[in-house]
Amino acid sequence: MCGITGYIGYRQATPVLLEALKKLEYRGYDSAGIAVLHEDALLVRKMKGPLQVLEARLATETIAGSLGIGHTRWATHGEPSDINSHPHTDVSGRIAIVHNGIIENYAKIKAWLQARGGVFKSDTDTEVIAHLINYYYQQYQKDIPGTRDILLHAVQHALTRLAGSYALGVIACDFPDRLIAARKDSPLIVGLGEGEHFIASDVPALLAYTREVYFLEEREVAVLYRDHVDLFTEQGEKIIRAPSHVDWDLASAEKGGYAHFMLKEIHDQAKAFTDTLRPRLTLEAQGWDINFDEIKLDAGWAEAPRIVITACGTAWHAAMVGKYAFERFARIPVEVDIASEYRYRNPVFNPQDIFIVISQSGETADTLAAMRLAKKGGARILAITNAVGSTLSREADLVLYTWAGPEIAVASTKAFTTQLLCLYLLALKLGLLRGCLSDASPYLQALSEVADKVARILNQKELIQRFASRQFNKDKVFFIGRQFDYAVSLECALKLKEISYTHSEAFAAGELKHGPIALVDTNTLVVALATQRELFDKIVSNIREVTSRGAASLVITWEGESAFDAVADEVFTIPQIEDSLSPLLSIIPAQLFAYYCAVQRGNDPDKPRNLAKSVTVE
Ligand code: G6P
Repeated sequence: MCGITGYIGYRQATPVLLEALKKLEYRGYDSAGIAVLHEDALLVRKMKGPLQVLEARLATETIAGSLGIGHTRWATHGEPSDINSHPHTDVSGRIAIVHNGIIENYAKIKAWLQARGGVFKSDTDTEVIAHLINYYYQQYQKDIPGTRDILLHAVQHALTRLAGSYALGVIACDFPDRLIAARKDSPLIVGLGEGEHFIASDVPALLAYTREVYFLEEREVAVLYRDHVDLFTEQGEKIIRAPSHVDWDLASAEKGGYAHFMLKEIHDQAKAFTDTLRPRLTLEAQGWDINFDEIKLDAGWAEAPRIVITACGTAWHAAMVGKYAFERFARIPVEVDIASEYRYRNPVFNPQDIFIVISQSGETADTLAAMRLAKKGGARILAITNAVGSTLSREADLVLYTWAGPEIAVASTKAFTTQLLCLYLLALKLGLLRGCLSDASPYLQALSEVADKVARILNQKELIQRFASRQFNKDKVFFIGRQFDYAVSLECALKLKEISYTHSEAFAAGELKHGPIALVDTNTLVVALATQRELFDKIVSNIREVTSRGAASLVITWEGESAFDAVADEVFTIPQIEDSLSPLLSIIPAQLFAYYCAVQRGNDPDKPRNLAKSVTVE
């Protein structure tokens, strides 16, 4: 959903901006651009296409200057083109801005500015912001000439006119000593250095320079100078706040020798799992116990009538697994809904419900809106997120972090498995609190062995690679399963369609006969997840039904299991674990399958077409 960055300091801005944009490219990659203040002019270079196109262009010239802004775009208003790329400037070309978000009332503002002589070059919503700032800047110049803060006043005035979301970086020729930043409903982080300061949409873009940051709050404005940073409220009052420290290291935001971030992140899962589990496990005399000091579950949890979980995309699939886990271990009804549905469906609240929101980025617009709606209805919110300092983490009442480290590839992998882990821990804890489980330690023991089992699956990745090399050209791939396996199937199908562009869907295996089987033909691959032992016979029947109609079949099941050998074309096995914990392992071969299919098809798995990792607009 676009990434923005900015630099003010003593270094040359261009290479700093380009490096930051590389770390933000996962947010959008249809065009990129920078603006750098060079002497008394803003030099803007922006190009349609991936960042390398801009990089190649910039290699042909030197743009000297130590103040600049940059942008990587995921188009919303106006097709990807050089003109529609950011930065955008006002008419004079003396004010430049980069923007992440959507200005919902841009058409109205554009008409208003056009009536006052404004001439626009692009089809974007963003360009109106540059013109609007200039409009007020001109006014203030007439009214209060010579004031140092005219630009800040103009930006603040312009912001009051905007409806929608924005993270903004603004620079101007008349103010070579400052960079202005502001946010509403889109993330923005200010990085603090010595004699230099930065802005970026996400932490990895700053890690090469600093770990001291301000996470800008809603409607805050920051003015970055070389030697200090001022923070203001929307009303212009100065804010004094201690910076936050981020722990992520640079290496965790690099590919580390892997061909793609996605493959690296698939491999990161064993470590991410251990990092997320270890701080929450304690070994007591009677066995393992769950330490949830960070969220302090009170009596309300034991007595809650219902759990409501809402999320988008992969996080929603984690919620679907969570539903089965909560019902299995804590015998509590669970309602799961897609955040974009939940927010508009006039849901029935019960303030005693446990309300859980899941989001890797903590910035997904629909998820935030659903959370705010529930909060308004009196719910207490527990967030599961990977992003410390994210909007979700700041607005929720309780936060459970997935310690997966930065996830860069658009297709989520390690965030998913660590979300599952948090949900399992919650379900087990709740089971104990509600008296539905007398002892969680066998499950906790099993969880403590998952990282090794993940590593064992990864050691066999060549088997999946070979299978993908034979099947990547199928027209349709259907994933089927029952119960936990159905929930995981949803995520398997999403992974495959996201990065290989194969038409893939997930079906509850029992639903096959109610319609989906009409789609099955000789160009179909059916992947059955079979880890729920008491339902094996039913899956065997399902496989017979699809193979007799010409489909190829793969079964993912337990090591040592022979129930499918005679019916399926191929069987891939995963190490044994208790049935209800199978999603932690069964997703791994499907992630690898999606990855290898994408590579076979010549796609870049890290940058799938039309997608962005963090969807900060509706
Ligand atoms: C986008 C991404 C998905 C992700 C979803 C929710 O669609 O492409 O990978 O699952 O957003 O993101 P979140 O950050 O809220 O987990």
